[in-house]
Amino acid sequence: MRNILTKDGSFTLYSEEHSEYYHSLTGAEEEAREKYAQPGVAAIRGKDRVRVLDVCFGLGYNTAAFLDMAEDEMSRIRVEAVGLENDPAVLREILTTPARFRSYPRIRAAVRGEEPSIRIILGDARQTILQAGGPFDLVFFDPFSPKRQPELWSEAFFREIAVRMAPGALLATYSCAKAAREHMGAAGLSVADGPVVKRWAPGTIARKV
Ligand SMILES: C[S@@+](CC[C@H](N)C(=O)[O-])C[C@H]1O[C@@H](n2cnc3c(N)ncnc32)[C@H](O)[C@@H]1O
Repeated sequence: MRNILTKDGSFTLYSEEHSEYYHSLTGAEEEAREKYAQPGVAAIRGKDRVRVLDVCFGLGYNTAAFLDMAEDEMSRIRVEAVGLENDPAVLREILTTPARFRSYPRIRAAVRGEEPSIRIILGDARQTILQAGGPFDLVFFDPFSPKRQPELWSEAFFREIAVRMAPGALLATYSCAKAAREHMGAAGLSVADGPVVKRWAPGTIARKV
């Protein structure tokens, strides 16, 4: 696992096992804000309590970006988050990564088991989702690519996620891969393009109808 500086001045990691970066090299924090936090906040306006499922938690950037943005826009919002992550080494990285999110000290506290509103469950997400609870208003879905981890972009796993989503809940992900979208649709989610950031391909937004 190597620390890499991305173009917005934030750090990401490189996975030797999957030969992929954890984030876009154009900006790790920017990706978390634009592809996850922004559509997340837009979907929950008007709510005062929100449950978030962060699948493939990694450095926790998606939850941190969402907390910052949601609390900026809705000062009274209460967020409870569950993160699914199978690599204890990446959770240790959280303790030393110099992320600039205002809420990042809470992500670090969650790693130490000292932040009651953020529960990180260690293990394969296909198993740990069974203990995740719900129903969730938002799902941040951020595995390595469908090419590298087809088992996570499968219809079976999207079904496990979809049954834990509240009616109208939203899943956000960076990928627009056709097969992944088909599997979301087969799992009962309604699929649309997510935000286009710079000249990236759009992500995907999937709603539980
Ligand atoms: C692309 S990175 C996600 C980046 C992350 N959202 C962040 O803010 O840093 C993918 C993450 O999924 C984790 N992962 C891979 N396979 C997994 C699995 N089967 N169950 C749970 N986590 C997994 C990896 O360890 C890695 O942290």
